[in-house]
Amino acid sequence: MEKLVIQGRTRLHGEVTISGAKNAAVALIPATLLINGVCTLENLPNISDVQIQCEILKELGATIEWLNPNTARIDTSTVDNYKAPLDKTSKFRASYYLIGALLSRFHNVEVGLPGGCNLGARPIDQHIKGFEALGANVEVATGKVTASAENLIGAPIYMDTVSVGATINIILASVFAKGTTTIDNAAKEPHIVDVANFLNSIGADIRGAGTDIIKINGVEKLKSGSTYSVVPDQIEAGTFMLAAMATGGDIVLKNCISEHLDCLTAKIIEMGGKVDESGDEIRVYCNKRPTKANIKTAPYPGFPTDLQSQMGVVLALADGTSVISENIWESRFQYTYELIKMGAKITSQGKTAFFEGVEKLSGAPVYATDLRAGAALIIAGIAAEGTTELYNLQHIDRGYENIEEKFRKLGANIIRVRE
Ligand code: UD1
Repeated sequence: MEKLVIQGRTRLHGEVTISGAKNAAVALIPATLLINGVCTLENLPNISDVQIQCEILKELGATIEWLNPNTARIDTSTVDNYKAPLDKTSKFRASYYLIGALLSRFHNVEVGLPGGCNLGARPIDQHIKGFEALGANVEVATGKVTASAENLIGAPIYMDTVSVGATINIILASVFAKGTTTIDNAAKEPHIVDVANFLNSIGADIRGAGTDIIKINGVEKLKSGSTYSVVPDQIEAGTFMLAAMATGGDIVLKNCISEHLDCLTAKIIEMGGKVDESGDEIRVYCNKRPTKANIKTAPYPGFPTDLQSQMGVVLALADGTSVISENIWESRFQYTYELIKMGAKITSQGKTAFFEGVEKLSGAPVYATDLRAGAALIIAGIAAEGTTELYNLQHIDRGYENIEEKFRKLGANIIRVRE
């Protein structure tokens, strides 16, 4: 078993380079199945979710050559199987993109029921509704999803919930569908735009990504041989911005798109932090105790649920009492029980948590309850007095590339220990 041992209390200081976006990468890799040929993806984050997605593609018959740790040349012309390995696909959430991609390519698919972080119920009814509207028969039996279609035909689809996964999945399924597909009430996250940009760059006809109405005109095939670079990860960037706030630090983030973080930047300024933006760099610094703030998570461009727990650490240390309303996931306050072990004063009830800010946290043994909670607890450990031991690192390794090395370069005293 591995753990992180963090010696606090450090003010983080220095530069950090942001990796490619996890949530874009895990969609772009299955999207390469549509090419039935070769493409090179650059700026892939070196994380376990990307590795699993690549292993699944290889089991389907793809050839993947790593040109460096962040660049993969993927050849899907050799894929001849529409049944994805059930054990691997049921391990993580983004395996749902294989449903849209394989349905598009083979009109047939079998995938394990997607797993992932335990954030409460994670339905895929909107994905299924979209596939059915395009003409597929979809079945969800114990542990797996199967779908097949004689023909996929473009259709108007209204999303009852704004869903990142369903929006991308319906795009994947409709790239070759005859006629026009319209997704109304689509999600607008940067990685949706990234997937659409990638597919358009190789011949797809997707319009309106980044707005709530997306139109996909079916095309006959996509081009082989292109190179595409994954968009920077705005959640990783936001994690380091909040680490600067929690530790009274001064961090320059390189390779990020500041417009993707407007909502977080506004909150940081509201709490007394400073943000300077210049080109693809953001400097965040805070030389006094942050003040309280109220947060409501919402689909993009609202405050991202994936930064809620990292913000929770800042609010646990802020001056005054803050409230977080979690509006996306039903069970995303588990990390607060770990912060309480470190001296935080937090009470949560349903989708609301109250943070009565304390002047300092104290190191303690804590457990990453999910991916973003893990990042939050690293920040808490760096800000806290004394030693924090953080367990359940497999959650963190799913989504953050070299996280302890990046924090070490910013001055944190953090080591990974194998017990
Ligand atoms: C994606 C992100 C995840 C992030 C989430 C919200 C990936 C791989 N993961 O997850 O990190 O926390 O967006 O920004 O990109 N819903 C339904 N029916 C559906 C689908 C979703 O009711 O068919 C509901 C969910 O329960 C949730 C909300 O819609 O309440 C948003 O979910 P969605 O945007 O689909 O999240 P994911 O794509 O799973």
